[in-house]
Amino acid sequence: MILKTEQNGHIVEGHPATEEAETDQGHQHIVTVADIRKEPQIEAFLRGANQQLKVLGYTEHGQRHASLVSNIGHNILERLGYSKRTADLAAIAGYMHDVGNVIHRDGHALGSAIIAMQVLPRLGMNYDEVATVMGAIGNHEEERGVPSSEVTAAVIIADKADVHRSRVQNPDPDQFDIHDRVNFASRRSFVRVDGDKRVIALELDIDTDISRVMEYFEIFMSRMVISRRAARYLGCKFELCINGDRLF
Ligand SMILES: [Fe+2]
Ligand SMILES: [Fe+2]
Repeated sequence: MILKTEQNGHIVEGHPATEEAETDQGHQHIVTVADIRKEPQIEAFLRGANQQLKVLGYTEHGQRHASLVSNIGHNILERLGYSKRTADLAAIAGYMHDVGNVIHRDGHALGSAIIAMQVLPRLGMNYDEVATVMGAIGNHEEERGVPSSEVTAAVIIADKADVHRSRVQNPDPDQFDIHDRVNFASRRSFVRVDGDKRVIALELDIDTDISRVMEYFEIFMSRMVISRRAARYLGCKFELCINGDRLF
């Protein structure tokens, strides 16, 4: 069953992950994103992570961003025909990928992976799955990330797709920096996955009165490059469409 919802302008197709939350796997537990969402440690760390980045003037990196990346990452793999469990691991890695900002922005991917290493085995996840999730989290940054598994590739694409006005935390438009401007200008952001044609397209509607399309490229070119690499890992072509025009 697929659930369609809208979150902050993003159209998100979710999945009833809680259905399998109590399935046993020997002495282990099949950990789902529903378990992670209700885990008090993750809740608190995400709040702390977002607070740190808010002080630094960054866009939103809390529960909203975590949920979006989780849902989009899951959907990418589901649409491409990967197993349900592989898609679920992308949902878990997507939810936790930025939690390491609770420690520091620098090296936050490493911090997030270490937090996952502590939390997931405690919840009963087996070490092979923990390894997959850690690798995906640790490689999500465009500066040093390598799409080295399908879960990693999905998390990378989902993370770089979250460009939307609801991410802007700065309340004063006069103080907007280029990141605030580009995000605020984005009225719609959607990852369209065509499993048959093997195309992953990021569709953005940008209000060019607020930000020029060139500004988007100025700050997001490296994100598009790693998204393309990630799509290629999944055997797909990556496309970027802004205001209905396919730019690459
Ligand atoms: Fe990040
Ligand atoms: Fe992120």
